[in-house]
Amino acid sequence: MLKDSRAGYGLMTIIFHWVCAPLIIFLFGLGVYMRGLDYYSPWYHRGPEIHIAIGLLVFVLMLLRLVWRSRSASPDDIPTISKSNLLAATAVKMALYAFVFVICISGYFITTAEGSAASFFGIINIPATLQLSADNIDRAGFIHKYLAWSLIGLVVLHAAAAIFHHFIKRDKTLVRMLKPVQKTD
Ligand code: HEM
Repeated sequence: MLKDSRAGYGLMTIIFHWVCAPLIIFLFGLGVYMRGLDYYSPWYHRGPEIHIAIGLLVFVLMLLRLVWRSRSASPDDIPTISKSNLLAATAVKMALYAFVFVICISGYFITTAEGSAASFFGIINIPATLQLSADNIDRAGFIHKYLAWSLIGLVVLHAAAAIFHHFIKRDKTLVRMLKPVQKTD
């Protein structure tokens, strides 16, 4: 029930997926919103505080998700899906993981650029490690921004493919990310 098996996804993977996906979309929305705020807005400080804390949480959840994934069997491919579609889906999923990690790491560098810690609501503080030059801080900001937009593009593609498979192809692509498999092997 908890672990993935060749028959489908287990409860843990399903929880990771449906907790991380909304948090990532929320982070994107908050990131865009907070960049448009002026200094006198009550959200000028609160927005980045929440963004950084939730960003750290997503980073840890995604790490745990990878560890969990490496310890579980992979569900079998759905036989009606072509090899090229499976390859494209795998490439998108790998890019989603890679983008999230690079966005989180660049976010950490922007946050700690001037020596302050990246804080999870003041409870856990991740100290600054590297002193970046002004140029490198700009590069980290550039990477963070454009990868975040690219990530959202991929999320839209990934969600559209799931909806297409559910309503048009009528296969179990989406259902198996909603209902945990009962049997594990
Ligand atoms: C998947 C996770 C994340 C997404 C999708 C995301 C998305 C964004 C977006 C869209 C922006 C606005 C960029 C702009 O217009 O310049 C932003 C800004 C920012 N993000 Fe993230 N972010 C994520 C994770 C993180 C993490 C983990 C941290 C810190 C540890 C962080 C720190 C920041 C900071 C400090 C800014 C403001 C940058 C500035 O004012 O120049 N982000 N983020």
